[in-house]
Amino acid sequence: MKEMLIRLQQEADKDLAACASEDDIFAVKVRYLGRKEGRITMLLRELGKIPQEERPAVGKLANEIKENLEQRVAQAQSTIHEKRKRDYLAQEKTDVTLPGRKARRGGLHPVTLVLDEVIEIFLTMGFEAVEGPEAELDWYNFGSLNFPNEHPARDMHDTFYLGKEMLLRTHTSPVQIRTMEKQAPPVRIVAPGKVYRCDSDISHTPMFHQLEGLMVEEGISFSDLKGVLTHFLHRVFGEETPIRFRPSFFPFTEPSAEVDIRCAVCRGKGCRVCSQSGWLEILGSGMVHPEVLRIVKYDPEQVSGFAFGMGIERIAMLKFGIDDIRLFYENDQRFLEQFQ
Ligand code: FA5
Ligand code: MG
Repeated sequence: MKEMLIRLQQEADKDLAACASEDDIFAVKVRYLGRKEGRITMLLRELGKIPQEERPAVGKLANEIKENLEQRVAQAQSTIHEKRKRDYLAQEKTDVTLPGRKARRGGLHPVTLVLDEVIEIFLTMGFEAVEGPEAELDWYNFGSLNFPNEHPARDMHDTFYLGKEMLLRTHTSPVQIRTMEKQAPPVRIVAPGKVYRCDSDISHTPMFHQLEGLMVEEGISFSDLKGVLTHFLHRVFGEETPIRFRPSFFPFTEPSAEVDIRCAVCRGKGCRVCSQSGWLEILGSGMVHPEVLRIVKYDPEQVSGFAFGMGIERIAMLKFGIDDIRLFYENDQRFLEQFQ
């Protein structure tokens, strides 16, 4: 019996040493220590058959061998487990001990900053902010604004057409019509949003932002237009910045004026940005044309109004001294970070 036990132990040792996987080890465990068929288990059952006086010594040895084998099985299992973990980590490409990438803090886009500021100024003057669609009907973008069909004024807008009747709005002025169709005077609104023109150079981008303004009620005159716009421009640029109102033409206003601000890039000396004129045009404006009032069923004998449409990127260029409008849409972080 003793010899058998010792032989079993040697065999178990050999089997264990040959194990290559956790499954192999488990198989050894079952073969020697299994409850039913384990070779050591079965041998221990035979203990009753040996002479009484030998039993304690053999029993002790058998238990020692059993415990010893159990211990070594457990150890072999944990060794192979550790090895597998090491191999897996070595394979993994990500080094989890490397420091993480820093999260960069974002900020509002300079055009958003200016748009928010501009809207806020008009809200404090009692204007309400409304919006209109960017994909617009030809009728709202041109026809209802008194642009005759085939009129050259349409060409000035370099329109992106979406079909025969639909286009990407070239200005925010269609929101004037949509607003007046829905409500009776008095009207006092601003309408911010994106507009599109097939146009690109140092002071023009194919998509840009305008803010439309409209005020209609009894007794509105050109001096109200001048007063509101001057107050607004003083708040945005300060009272010292030179401003000029220049006569102009729009089919939907009469009389009309464009407003220029002294070029902030060259301080009026003349440069590429202002085409050597020393001034940058930021808005168009005028008294709402009686024909437009009639189209929305307002009575031009009863009410009058003024309207304006300003370029937000142009205001941002002047405020921040930016010498190329296209910088706003290149998404260069080095540029954008300066506005945080
Ligand atoms: C208009 O778009 C008229 N709807 C403005 C208006 C509204 C007049 C209400 C009267 C009453 P204009 O095409 O001039 O006008 O454009 C207005 C402003 O948008 C310009 O002064 C300029 O600041 C800006 N702008 C025009 N084209 C571009 C462009 N391609 N990129 C950036 N800004 C532009
Ligand atoms: Mg213009």
